[in-house]
Amino acid sequence: MNQKIQDAFNAHLNAEMYSSYFYLSMSAYLESGNLKGMANWMRIQAQEEMTHVMKFYDFIHDRDGQVILTAIEGPKTEWNSPLEIFEEALAHERLVSGLINDLVDLAMAEKDHMAVTFLQWFVTEQVEEEANVKEIVDKMKMVGDNGVARFMLDGELSQRAPVPAEPTV
Ligand code: FEO
Repeated sequence: MNQKIQDAFNAHLNAEMYSSYFYLSMSAYLESGNLKGMANWMRIQAQEEMTHVMKFYDFIHDRDGQVILTAIEGPKTEWNSPLEIFEEALAHERLVSGLINDLVDLAMAEKDHMAVTFLQWFVTEQVEEEANVKEIVDKMKMVGDNGVARFMLDGELSQRAPVPAEPTV
């Protein structure tokens, strides 16, 4: 892979690392408020982001490139409501979708077809990432201040299962 692609992929690896840190911070905040189902959803999202990090990590190495790990920005730690948290998560996923689109544009401009093909998984994944968070935001808006409904939604989000472990060779 050429230097431009390597630099952009390393920058994106950092962005996915930040995503994981951001979701874990949201999880910690929700956990403190005893919203354990929402905290569970965010904790698993943080794990899922680490699987995205490792896809970039492996791809850079597979292409004989060099992974450069850089400082991760500190995430926000305080919010006003669970709705605000999930709305920020949705805004974040939309931002990440934009970053992935930019990477595809770059890979196409550099005629790096291996990178273009690799990125297709992320293009598809971002559709799901945005849709999943949007669904929760919409449900939260429906629930509003209804404590019982919020309790039930928290229970629903507690059902999200952990990301399966990477198969060992
Ligand atoms: Fe790795 Fe949620 O995008």
